Amino acid sequence: MTSSKLHQLILAILDNKQTALISSLHSKLIEVLKAQATIITSDKLALDDIKVTRLLILIEGLIKYLVQFGLDKNLLQKAIRLRSECWIEQGLPSLFFEDTYHPEIEKTLLFFAWADGLVTNELLKQAAINFAKVLPWNVNDTYKPSLESKETAIVAKSVQRAELMEMPQADEKGRFIPSIFSQGGFILSKLDKYTEEFVKHAVICGGTVLNIGSGYGIPERLALLLGAKKIICNDICAEHLEIIKNLTPKIYHPNLDLAVGSFPDEITLSANSVRVIGIFRVLHFFDPDLLVGAIKKAHELLETGGTLIISAETPYLGNWKKFIPIYERRKEQKESWPGYIPDTSDYETAGYSRRLPPKMHFLDVAVLTRVLTENGFSIIRCTTLNRADTFPEHLLYNGQESVGAVAQKVIHSRL
Ligand SMILES: C[S@@+](CC[C@H](N)C(=O)[O-])C[C@H]1O[C@@H](n2cnc3c(N)ncnc32)[C@H](O)[C@@H]1O
Repeated sequence: MTSSKLHQLILAILDNKQTALISSLHSKLIEVLKAQATIITSDKLALDDIKVTRLLILIEGLIKYLVQFGLDKNLLQKAIRLRSECWIEQGLPSLFFEDTYHPEIEKTLLFFAWADGLVTNELLKQAAINFAKVLPWNVNDTYKPSLESKETAIVAKSVQRAELMEMPQADEKGRFIPSIFSQGGFILSKLDKYTEEFVKHAVICGGTVLNIGSGYGIPERLALLLGAKKIICNDICAEHLEIIKNLTPKIYHPNLDLAVGSFPDEITLSANSVRVIGIFRVLHFFDPDLLVGAIKKAHELLETGGTLIISAETPYLGNWKKFIPIYERRKEQKESWPGYIPDTSDYETAGYSRRLPPKMHFLDVAVLTRVLTENGFSIIRCTTLNRADTFPEHLLYNGQESVGAVAQKVIHSRL
């Protein structure tokens, strides 16, 4: 097959005008794919076989991105169809192609994560990746497959796919992915500034990193692709961890540990063994005693000087408006736990309470700062967090929907 034929196939299968199936969730991706395919095809200096190889890496990288992080199953199906048609045309098995170009395909995955807004320039910099200088599919050799049959590869691939546990479908704007755990709420599909900071620390710290309440492990799986050495994912829900494992390429399994169980009580890691801990959007499920227990446990697990990064919800959410006056009155009266609601049934208005625990505990900068400083942490940063880019619109309120903190374990504490 020639590169121009492959290019036409890409444009035909992914053309917005010809099909309604192209996802608005990933429209930027498709534009980028088409633009890069055009650049590859019109390269006057490269041999045609090399251009074909580059196009195939591009397609494989897109599929890997959609499998591991994508939010639209229709688009994934289309991309898989595109791949099948390429390989039927090409007449060679694709499995061996993946093995041959594994590093290039993985970097191409990261290129699409960047084009899709999941990975920032800052994170790429931490991993010493610069797409302005090197485009990962620009190999200079031609794929030389072994002689195994096309049928073997196709069968192996369909078995592989049938076994794959996937993330459930996201909401229509692609922001929230429902938890499988019945009281686990929703999992964020994108990074915010605190999860981004977690990924950055995970990549550069060179030690063990733990994330509590991982959900589908999006920050952790990105950190592994960007070079993190050891990540422990914890969740109360075994299925969540199973999905994380399935969506993590096998080559990274030695760098990934899974710790199922309820934090803090069921987690039995050694004291002083972890360099960075993340707890994102979990602490607002903990009553005051459990919250303090969780911070004490994080302190115990961290090495001295280790970093704890947190995000949690404040009551300033569109679906908890009924609770805001009560919270503000409690704040005026200087109550210790103004955001605690032992019975949520009277307050939540978006129909989410059936996906949440019966108790909620909204936090704020003052409460989080107090709990951290009283339990052996010094605060590096504690701020409110605007969710305009990461939560569905009906949950937004005043730009202070969440609170986040970065804190460091210090030797002396009042424990
Ligand atoms: C709202 S989701 C947040 C997921 C992800 N961290 C994020 O920021 O999108 C809460 C997650 O914490 C898990 N979870 C809830 N309680 C937990 C506990 N006590 N210990 C560990 N995981 C817990 C749930 O299963 C779910 O995956």
